[in-house]
Amino acid sequence: MRVSVIGTGYVGLVTATCFAFLGHDVACLDINEKRIEDLKQGKVPIYEPHLEELLIACKAKNKYPIFSTDAKEVISHGEFIFIAVGTPPQANGEPNLEYLKSAAETIGQYMQDGAIVINKSTVPVGSGNWVAMLVENGIALRASDASKHTSTLTKLNFSVASNPEFLREGSAIADTLYPDRIVVGSDNQEVANKLKGLYRVLSEQEFVAPDFCPRLENFGKVEVISTDITSAEMIKYSANAFLACKISFANQMANICDLVGADVLEVMKGIGSDERIGHRFLNAGIGWGGSCFGKDVDALIKIAEEYNYNPEMLKATKKINYAQRDLVIKRLQEHLKIIKGKKIGLLGIAFKPNTDDLRDAPALDIAAALIKLGARVVATDPIAIENCKVQNPGFELSYVNNASELAEGLDALILVTEWQEYLDLDMKDILSRMNGNLFIDGRNQYSPSKMRELGFTYIGMGRA
Ligand SMILES: NC(=O)c1ccc[n+]([C@@H]2O[C@H](COP(=O)([O-])OP(=O)(O)OC[C@H]3O[C@@H](n4cnc5c(N)ncnc54)[C@H](O)[C@@H]3O)[C@@H](O)[C@H]2O)c1
Repeated sequence: MRVSVIGTGYVGLVTATCFAFLGHDVACLDINEKRIEDLKQGKVPIYEPHLEELLIACKAKNKYPIFSTDAKEVISHGEFIFIAVGTPPQANGEPNLEYLKSAAETIGQYMQDGAIVINKSTVPVGSGNWVAMLVENGIALRASDASKHTSTLTKLNFSVASNPEFLREGSAIADTLYPDRIVVGSDNQEVANKLKGLYRVLSEQEFVAPDFCPRLENFGKVEVISTDITSAEMIKYSANAFLACKISFANQMANICDLVGADVLEVMKGIGSDERIGHRFLNAGIGWGGSCFGKDVDALIKIAEEYNYNPEMLKATKKINYAQRDLVIKRLQEHLKIIKGKKIGLLGIAFKPNTDDLRDAPALDIAAALIKLGARVVATDPIAIENCKVQNPGFELSYVNNASELAEGLDALILVTEWQEYLDLDMKDILSRMNGNLFIDGRNQYSPSKMRELGFTYIGMGRA
């Protein structure tokens, strides 16, 4: 089937490449010319494990997507047109919908008759209707343009559907090829069936798994949840709100553990064994970051408030999360007393391992707070340093290439991002390079007793 994807960021590019790998004919549009040039040449502009290999696999199958900045070329190609543009947060908590607006109007200008426009971007509840209106605006533009040249105008049919995305950066290929579920939101059964048809190879798992991203044993067919557009939009927000809430719950428990002398790892293990609770997303630490949780919780708060409802749990979820970043500073002050002039190292900058994404990364807030207090802050990261330099010009953060270099002369070291290579460090060597011995384990990855045996002053999050 012919698929167009608008936006080649983390979601659009992964979605497009997976559809192409599954055998569809895919065309991708972006307004970022450099990105499209890179992709035409097989260069992947973001760091996402296995994405490059998947594109190579598409090429080998003669299914390499078309990458273009030409809206007409890409949009007129698709029976299915996915919108995967960014919906970044604004200062007031509402998502910025200007990219979505522009994409929807452009679709109206160039789409073929009968196209299905599918929202994959995370959008406020009710956006299905809004996107339909914008596509209509685009059609009107086309019509007014055409009327200057010809006298015959044809009425175009189209439908709008919602297909929220649940992939996680760092494991986006596996999440897309082997998802927990696919949500199809449409108020029209025929459209829902067509969309389910597009996903059939995936939902039935009727494809040969790539060697570099194998199917897990016992992984069966994928549940397709077919629902109305509003519920589909709400599923996306609820899912992220719940996950964010779960982590904030673990962090609140961690802070109580610190007070009463319990170990939050033991406590979460104990509650996670209850099937009703589950072990995942109960990792206490310096909290979540990234492009989605903060933005989506904010957006859901705004939506509720539009209806004069006060979503107290969502507000608390956010407050607890960001307080964890301040807690790191508080612990440093408790132990170092004076922060001014101290050299503090950050292990990791990306908001989580296996990505170069720095959106809402705790490292940036922690570094900024320490710099403000007069500390000299140095950071390392296996992938994200270049992004950090480009995105934060003038930021007084220094960068080094690895953990050994980072450790030189440090008064305190903080584990911010739990990249695997930071969990396999020779900590004796690290300590020997440091000036002080304070280690803040922002991700609760190290054994307190082993670290103390080595001579560190070890501070975990809720590991009293
Ligand atoms: N990143 C994630 O982990 C994730 C997961 C699930 C859902 N989402 C949602 O998916 C959407 C996309 O997120 P992302 O992380 O891929 O964003 P991104 O910022 O990485 O990519 C967006 C891309 O869209 C392009 N773009 C913007 N306007 C355009 C236009 N009018 N025409 C063509 N291209 C345009 C940008 O140049 C950019 O390359 C967001 O709504 C996000 O909330 C993201």
